[in-house]
Amino acid sequence: MVGLLEEKKKVYLKTYGCQMNVYDSDRIIEQLAQKGFEATPREFDADLIVLNTCHIREKAAEKVYSELGKYSNLKSKNPKLKIGVAGCVAQAEGNEIIKRQPLVDFVVGPQTYHTIPTLLEKLTNGQKVVDIEFSTQEKFENLKLTEGKEYKPSQFLTVQEGCDKFCSFCVVPYTRGVEVSRPLSEILSEAKTLTEYGAIEITLLGQNVNAYNGLDDSKKRRDLSYLIHKLSEIDGLKRIRFVTSHPVDMTDSLIQTFRSNEKLMPYLHLPIQSGSDEILKKMNRRHNVSDYLNIIKKVREARPDIAVSGDFIVGFPGESDRDFERTLEVCHNVGYASAFSFKYSPRPGTTAFEKKEVPEYIKKERLTVLQDVIRQHQSSFQKNLVGKTLPVLVEKKGRIEGQVIGKSPYLQPVFFSAASALIGKIVDINITRSESNSLSGNFCE
Ligand code: 5AD
Ligand code: SF4
Repeated sequence: MVGLLEEKKKVYLKTYGCQMNVYDSDRIIEQLAQKGFEATPREFDADLIVLNTCHIREKAAEKVYSELGKYSNLKSKNPKLKIGVAGCVAQAEGNEIIKRQPLVDFVVGPQTYHTIPTLLEKLTNGQKVVDIEFSTQEKFENLKLTEGKEYKPSQFLTVQEGCDKFCSFCVVPYTRGVEVSRPLSEILSEAKTLTEYGAIEITLLGQNVNAYNGLDDSKKRRDLSYLIHKLSEIDGLKRIRFVTSHPVDMTDSLIQTFRSNEKLMPYLHLPIQSGSDEILKKMNRRHNVSDYLNIIKKVREARPDIAVSGDFIVGFPGESDRDFERTLEVCHNVGYASAFSFKYSPRPGTTAFEKKEVPEYIKKERLTVLQDVIRQHQSSFQKNLVGKTLPVLVEKKGRIEGQVIGKSPYLQPVFFSAASALIGKIVDINITRSESNSLSGNFCE
């Protein structure tokens, strides 16, 4: 019998959700490439389809099932086609996925996707595989980057995974497991490979990235500021970022790193979720509004130009009009450069799940109001950059001929005219315009 891995095959991978999933998807593609697969953007071309799923908000599983339903035609045309579900929906649903959608051949969680290449060999005679163990460290040990591959200028690097915070609305501690930090040397070596082959900027990822406490070679625990310091010694690496942080792990030494380390970009994503102390307590956030504002104050003292970003949930059970107004107050007070906001979505298995919900129309109204306030602040942050000259990391060609797109230190995309030979370089751009989610400017030769 001809095994799936013996021919040059095509893989179609669809990614849902956060940057951690983007990182995981890149690793899945890379591992499969080492086994002779190439990525295709067309599902009808594929010999293997993988959905890398997200479970953070409602209807996630439904979206996956409806996407899978679309593939039944493909499978009848190509009986050798294999279909897998990876990520957090896979972790949460497990076997149920194959029961509900028998065209699925395998299910792997966020900690077991490294097994995909070997697992494919087992899928002969219609056999199905479900592997949703928690084996974070084993996974990373099995994910080797490809020496000599060309990496894009901006890369993600997962340094920490999982969460022990158990916010009452959140599925992450259940789908990604408890907090695990990768050893320092493993991260440094991954960063060196990435920069050797093209990366200029690395964004360190973790559900609770600032809780990072990985072991160094002498088995000593090291925190995120130490890791950033060590990474900044890599010559080719010019920019470092990290997401996402929790206020309780925002140590003074990390805050001071914004002052002392010029490779650390002036951008901090620090979710507060609500501006009401009472709601924060119900959310089990372990901090109050004044703790949060105090951190922002210290961060701004360390790096006055910093772009602060955040996450908000509106309509958490019990949220009154007054609670919501307090969220708006925090928004005005902080003046976010950008922020993500969501309607509360009850997640089975979380402690807030059974609580009485705020009516949908109120959630909707509040979200509109909040997003409007966020937009105002985003716009004024960006307008303040007009007329300034910013160092921009050139990342890719734009849609228009002769245009390239880069990234400002504050994370906005920057559009300007220049040769694509500049991709991978940091150049000075005179900012001339602010759009809703981007900047444009002129290349200062
Ligand atoms: N409902 C709405 N938003 C949620 N988030 C996490 N869980 C939920 C939920 N149940 C949001 C939080 C978090 C972001 C990644 O997603 O704001 O910071
Ligand atoms: Fe979820 Fe809270 Fe952990 Fe963030 S800190 S991943 S919101 S449980």
